[in-house]
Amino acid sequence: MDRPISRLRCIGCGRDYPLDEIRYECEACSDLLEVAHDFERLTIARDGGAWRRLFDGRLGVRNGPHRSGVWRYHELVLPDLPPEHIVSKPEGNTALYRSPRLEEESGVAEVLIKHEGENPTLSFKDRGMSAGVSFARHLGVRLVACASTGDTSAAMAAYAAQVDGMRGVVVLPKGRISMEQLSQPIASGCLTVALPADFDTCIRLLREVCRRRPLYLLNSVNPVRIEGQKSIAYETVQQLDWNPPDWFVVPVGNAGNISAIGKGLFDLETLGVIDRVPRLLGAQTDAAAPLARAHGEGYKERVRLRAADTVATAIRIGDPVSYDKAVAAVRRSGGAFISSGEQEIMDAKALVDATGVYICPNSATAVAGFLKARGQGLIASTDRVAIVATAHGCKFSQATIDYHEGRLPGVRPRRANRVIEGRADAAALERLLAPVDDAPARKDR
Ligand code: F0G
Repeated sequence: MDRPISRLRCIGCGRDYPLDEIRYECEACSDLLEVAHDFERLTIARDGGAWRRLFDGRLGVRNGPHRSGVWRYHELVLPDLPPEHIVSKPEGNTALYRSPRLEEESGVAEVLIKHEGENPTLSFKDRGMSAGVSFARHLGVRLVACASTGDTSAAMAAYAAQVDGMRGVVVLPKGRISMEQLSQPIASGCLTVALPADFDTCIRLLREVCRRRPLYLLNSVNPVRIEGQKSIAYETVQQLDWNPPDWFVVPVGNAGNISAIGKGLFDLETLGVIDRVPRLLGAQTDAAAPLARAHGEGYKERVRLRAADTVATAIRIGDPVSYDKAVAAVRRSGGAFISSGEQEIMDAKALVDATGVYICPNSATAVAGFLKARGQGLIASTDRVAIVATAHGCKFSQATIDYHEGRLPGVRPRRANRVIEGRADAAALERLLAPVDDAPARKDR
């Protein structure tokens, strides 16, 4: 067999290991591992133009793994993985919406929303999970596990359910995920465990148990997940005919996604597919902003916090696992981390939702971070900005309704669209509907 293209490599000391050894940290220094491809071989195989043509040639493919927005880039995701081990729904191929409303609000030339909520389980996690579960199948693993604020578990459950003989185990912070998210692993037949603890505690405990039991950990500390997740960057740039935006704005919780998007963009630059790397803006909620605080302090030391309550429950994380990878990617890109409050987040959500692009509170944190960075002059009026919306609004319906009904503590429903209740009678109904007769388009919302 050919020498493998990918190995695991420690991001601290550089020590490397075979990709198919199950490990999540370096034996020598305990740092995070990443998948490292042999770029010399990939560069010899094709130049930038040939890579672009290869991926463009796969657009519109109807069958087989290449129709997925992850596996279209198979050679850059997990080149050594045999195609017959791929578990795909397919995922990716999400829309990149232009947002005239956000352009107007911010005065920025071009604002795009990459809506990852349009994935099969309604979040961006399907990309990394397609890679993670495929690799688990390749290794012959029977039990896969993750701790989650909701979306990782939903994705893992749905992909594991597709593989004969594979069972999922999920550990969740009790009462801190939405009903829709909770329903997903239950429906897919996972062993679903809720602990009276926050996410940071859930993942710490699960990692400990995974050292002792034959459970394959599929949190983003598993570097294979990051490889699938990179495809958000590939796909967005491909949708822009390989002309990268000036900024990628990404909501940050456990910090896997922003690390992955950074890694994907640097891959493309190394291969000559793009000629410059966009700046990364990591957006957090004030309730859980270790990276924004570290950025403000010049990254002097690692910040670990106890997260407070927030409407952005999926990013309620005080001690992100991929902290070091995220800091390295953001700094290398010349980017920043920023954080926003509950009011800003929910107003940003209502603004985007009202354009027909329905996003979740976590995604809205990126929109709020974008508006704030623009207000601070970090983002220029001439810039082209891609904001990553990570999950669909339908996964967080309670937060949406509570905002519009004015029931979110400490948040004023500035852009409220309340439900009107009436009597079941035609005349009464007509009176209720009168205000919308000949009403101009509600541009003010
Ligand atoms: N947005 C949503 C909707 C998420 O579910 C998450 C993370 C993030 C943003 C942040 O991404 O962790 O890569 O920085 N959710 C994880 C989970 C933690 O368990 O579903 P990240």
